[in-house]
Amino acid sequence: MNDPAAFVAEATAKLRADVPGTAIVAVSGGIDSTAAAVLVERALGDRARAIFVDTGLLRAGEVERVRAFFRDSGLRFEVVAAADRFFAALDGVTDPEEKRRRIGTAFVRLFEAEAERFGTDRLVQGTIAPDWIESGGSLRDTIKTHHNVGGIPKDSRLVLVEPLRDLYKDEVRALARHLGIPSPDRQPFPGPGLAVRVNGAVTPERVRRARVANAIVEAEVERAVADRTIPRPWQYFAVLLPARTVGVTGDNRVYGEAVSVRLVESVDAMTATAMDVPRPLLKAIAERITRELSGEVVRVLYDVTDKPPATIEWE
Ligand code: XMP
Repeated sequence: MNDPAAFVAEATAKLRADVPGTAIVAVSGGIDSTAAAVLVERALGDRARAIFVDTGLLRAGEVERVRAFFRDSGLRFEVVAAADRFFAALDGVTDPEEKRRRIGTAFVRLFEAEAERFGTDRLVQGTIAPDWIESGGSLRDTIKTHHNVGGIPKDSRLVLVEPLRDLYKDEVRALARHLGIPSPDRQPFPGPGLAVRVNGAVTPERVRRARVANAIVEAEVERAVADRTIPRPWQYFAVLLPARTVGVTGDNRVYGEAVSVRLVESVDAMTATAMDVPRPLLKAIAERITRELSGEVVRVLYDVTDKPPATIEWE
């Protein structure tokens, strides 16, 4: 994509051709699905409805932020409260690919129900090129099944419409900037949400811990970026590890959990470098996580691994 204006003209014309009647558009609050939704708004107006699923796996403040953005848009917007359904689907599951499959299926079933309510079979999503490249095809190994690709069962009645499927992240950001979407450079957040940042069992308690730790990493890193202590990382987050570890608070032994903090630099997420982070920033993050999750998280690690050999997310 060289020229965002030309891309918008082409993409809206194609959307009108692909969606003869009505459509729903799946929004996650990220740049990709927000850009797809704004294209849908331009192409279809009130023939489309945006659906945002509250999976219970979202970051702190996310529902409110997304609701506020769409309140001012011309699209009809609905939040579907589905935390119980996602936690039930993930009950007892620890394998990362199985988590992604279950989440993908839960999303599809919800979107099928929403599409039926709206009298359509068209589902617009913000899939971009790395999502389907890393999800594997006949020529590639599956690295990870991105929930918005691999989770769609063959028997689904939904017809997928993917206006961004040939774009890479830097192109989507240029498009988002052109469309006037706020913070087009904000960090990506995976579709399966905090479920892939909770290694091992996904329970409401463990997701809450991951949510608190992620909010602390985001706040401290954003402050360091604003102070110019570090450049803006590509991604910065915390992962709750499936390890129990001993700590001490006051005179008491605590047998708690451990969190890994990851800051990476990247251009397109296909490769990434673990960032060199000043010690005071790491110390501030570790102190806040162990204080605000006192008795629950007793140890904070920093992940120094590049991609490859690791991936950006842990699962
Ligand atoms: P990995 O962890 O494979 O991730 O190096 C590459 C980029 O993709 C994000 N990611 C996802 N995005 N659905 C998404 O929309 C997913 O299932 C998913 N899994 C990973 C990840 O945060 C990184 O930016």
